[in-house]
Formats: sequence, C-alpha cells, structure tokens
Amino acid sequence: MTLDLMSQGAQRLEKHKRKQEAEVNSGGRVASFSRIHQPGELDLVHGRILYLEDVNVSFDGFKAINNLSLDIGVGELRCIIGPNGAGKTIMMDIITGKTKPDSGQVFFGSTINLLRHNEPEIAQMGIGRKFQKPTVFEYLSVFENLEISFPRGRSVFGALVFKRDEEVINKVHEVANMIFLGDQLDKQAELLSHGQKQWLEIGMLLMQDPDLLMLDEPVAGMSVGERQQTAELLRSIIKDRSVIVIEHDMQFVAQIADKVTVLHQGKILAEGSIDNVKNDPKVIEVYLGH
Ligand SMILES: Nc1ncnc2c1ncn2[C@@H]1O[C@H](COP(=O)(O)OP(=O)(O)OP(=O)(O)O)[C@@H](O)[C@H]1O
Ligand SMILES: [Mg+2]
Repeated sequence: MTLDLMSQGAQRLEKHKRKQEAEVNSGGRVASFSRIHQPGELDLVHGRILYLEDVNVSFDGFKAINNLSLDIGVGELRCIIGPNGAGKTIMMDIITGKTKPDSGQVFFGSTINLLRHNEPEIAQMGIGRKFQKPTVFEYLSVFENLEISFPRGRSVFGALVFKRDEEVINKVHEVANMIFLGDQLDKQAELLSHGQKQWLEIGMLLMQDPDLLMLDEPVAGMSVGERQQTAELLRSIIKDRSVIVIEHDMQFVAQIADKVTVLHQGKILAEGSIDNVKNDPKVIEVYLGH
C-alpha cells in the first residue's frame, strides 16, 4: 500500500469520526433524514446510492458506453451481466473516476457529483472497488493484510501510527470471520488458495467500511464450495452497504442478485429479476445462448 493510500485512509477515518460526532449531535440517530447535509457528505435521503444518467464514452469513434442510465438503491445487491466487451468494466471505471465520460451525469447519493472528483477522492468518499485479479500483499499474514487496510491516523510529525489498538484488532477479527479466514490470521497470504485471496481482498475493502462496494468477477477461478460461501459473504455484506457485482456465472448471479442489469454494446439490453432477464429473448440471443 502506498503512502498516498495511507493518507487517504487517515482522511477517511477523520471523516468517519466526524460522521459519528454528527450522529451524536443529532440525538444519536444513525439515519440522517432530518439533518442538513454538509457539502461532500453522502446523502441517501432519496434511497439511492448511485445514479448514472445518459452517460456516453467513445474511444476513437467507438461508442463503448452509449446513453447509459442506472439507478442503484441503498442496501441493494445489483448484478451486471453481459457479453465480453459490453462495457461492464468501463462502467466501473467511470464510477471510480478512472475514465471520464464524454457526457452524462454520475451521482453518489443525491448530492455528490462524482465527475467533479478524481480517483483517490472517490475511493476516500466511500466507493471501494475490487479488480478481477486478487492484489493482496503475498508476504504479509492475513492479519497484517487486513490491519494495513484500516484507515490510519498520523502522528504530529507525519509518521504513520501503527499502534495495534483494540479498535483495529476487533475490526480485523470481525472482518476475518466474515471472510471465512478467522482461523487463518497468522497464515502468510501467498499460502492461501486463489478463492481465499479473493476473500481477503474483499476483506481489505471492508476494513475501510465503504458505502458502495464494486466487485469485478469475484468468483472467477473459485471452486463450487467457495462460490457458495462467497454468495453468503455478499449477502452479509449488504446489511451495511450497497454492492455492485459484475459476473458471468449465472448460477451465482441467480443466488445473490436483487436485480440484474444486462449490458450490451454499452447500453442496457434488459433489467429486472433474474427470471425476467433469463427468459428475455434478446438476452438469450446476445448472451445466454452462446
Ligand atoms: N481505454 C480504452 N481504450 C480503447 N478501448 C477501450 C478502452 N477500455 C475499453 N475499451 C473497449 O471498450 C469495450 C468495452 O470494454 P469493457 O472492458 O468494459 O468490457 P466488459 O463488458 O468488461 O467485457 P469482459 O466481460 O470481457 O470483461 C471493449 O471493446 C474494449 O476493447
Ligand atoms: Mg470486464
């Protein structure tokens, strides 16, 4: 993890503390319906966490994203499916600030215009992203991988503070249990199976408590048993946040999704329950029939 990421973590911790103080000041309510929101603060009053409208992206005249509109609810687990090259990963690039669209709107909650922010700022605001390939620190233990992902404070001299206080240890244990690695805390990450590394990376994101978590093909390369456990994990994760999953494994999608969006040629081909989508002739023709 780079120093940059560490400092983002510190800023997130600060923000989290401010949020907690604000909750106490507003009478201890966790929900913030009656509070006036500060600029840059996540506003979920309208029940949606992410909103894309008429987004377009072209690469040398090729329309990779074509008038895409999308609405993700608070606490929703949305699956995005579609053939190779449909624009699924680019869509995540746009949300995370990696790619700027040519036109359109992208909002986090009701008030945060993501197009005005860069990648580190967006990560710090509470959008966590997992790429397809697991990127854990192989030479560190499970415990250390999780610990290093916790948002950190800095000392007055600017040195990173690495005190293993109770808060961090408790959080590491809580997350490790969620990702089925509670009894493997001392194991070096490189000795984990591919599936366990995927879980560890999800755990590293959970240490930062994102409000929206986006996972690109999380069960690729996993065994049947590991897929089953991942479905369980995602179901437990959405108790506190919203999740977007890109996945090709339809059995897995059927197990987890509240709602499925099918992308094709940069636009929405179909959207709805897994059964609606699975039986849609257009979807069968361009995706499921192959
Ligand atoms: N930076 C880029 N420059 C030019 N073309 C790009 C760029 N990024 C993506 N593309 C093209 O945009 C299209 C959509 O790509 P994207 O990676 O979003 O597909 P995907 O739906 O994630 O596919 P897969 O299921 O294979 O991962 C592809 O044709 C891809 O080649
Ligand atoms: Mg992709």
